Amino acid sequence: MNLVSITDFNERDIIAVFQLAKDYKKQQKHKYSRKLRNKILANLFYEPSTRTSSSFAAAMYNLGGSVIPINDVTYSSVTKGENLEDTVKTMGCFCDVIVLRSQNAGDAAFAAEVSTVPLINAGDGNGEHPTQTLLDLFTIYEKFKKIEGLTITFAGDIENSRTIHSLKKVLHAKNNCNYLETYDVETLPPSDVYYLTRVQRERGSTGSYQLTKEHVDNMPKESIVMHPFPRNDEIPKWFDSDPRAHYFEQMQNGLWIRMALLSWIL
Ligand code: NCD
Repeated sequence: MNLVSITDFNERDIIAVFQLAKDYKKQQKHKYSRKLRNKILANLFYEPSTRTSSSFAAAMYNLGGSVIPINDVTYSSVTKGENLEDTVKTMGCFCDVIVLRSQNAGDAAFAAEVSTVPLINAGDGNGEHPTQTLLDLFTIYEKFKKIEGLTITFAGDIENSRTIHSLKKVLHAKNNCNYLETYDVETLPPSDVYYLTRVQRERGSTGSYQLTKEHVDNMPKESIVMHPFPRNDEIPKWFDSDPRAHYFEQMQNGLWIRMALLSWIL
């Protein structure tokens, strides 16, 4: 089974992964089963990453597995001109699952087609980022115990943000879920979730924005602020201690979600 688009998972799959992730979150580290013992994950990253690559590696180690870390393909035969197909087929000779971050939307779908082992899309250009969506939904669900009926405001580089593209696909499929998009955040509408993203200069976007005291004063007490990170200027540090700041919790949830996902897929 591959995870290329969040639409590859139906609601039952998502709930099953959440249940597992909840169990992992509750457990003490020394109690994790070693159920991925003898399994090898290849991290194949054509773009920089801190959270996604590290949390996949940590997830694998927590469950007794191992990792081939190609966290910068410039040190691989890609520099010698090897194409994506050959690289993916090669990694399939050595590992049980490939986690691929690539530069172009559609790369993950292509790679999954030629791969001999399950392939997980860890972000394909400005396409999708389905595992981020799982951890985003998990974080929202933990707070509100539901997704339906919530108002979610997306701010920032909506066009280039693959995390927003995947999350919107789920919200779109749900009835009664409002989502609003705003680029310059002059006024943030009252919402349950504020999902902020950085301006992706590497994809040609320009401009900047920042959450102000005034925005924050107008945010409902029970709302939450999320961000896939890395952040630039959009969220000032002083907001980190606000109880509505959920981005570190969100990134920690990435570990449980990826542990759950790997046990589910492998
Ligand atoms: C995001 C990504 O790479 O799409 N980061 C992440 O995986 N948590 C967001 C970004 O790069 O801005």
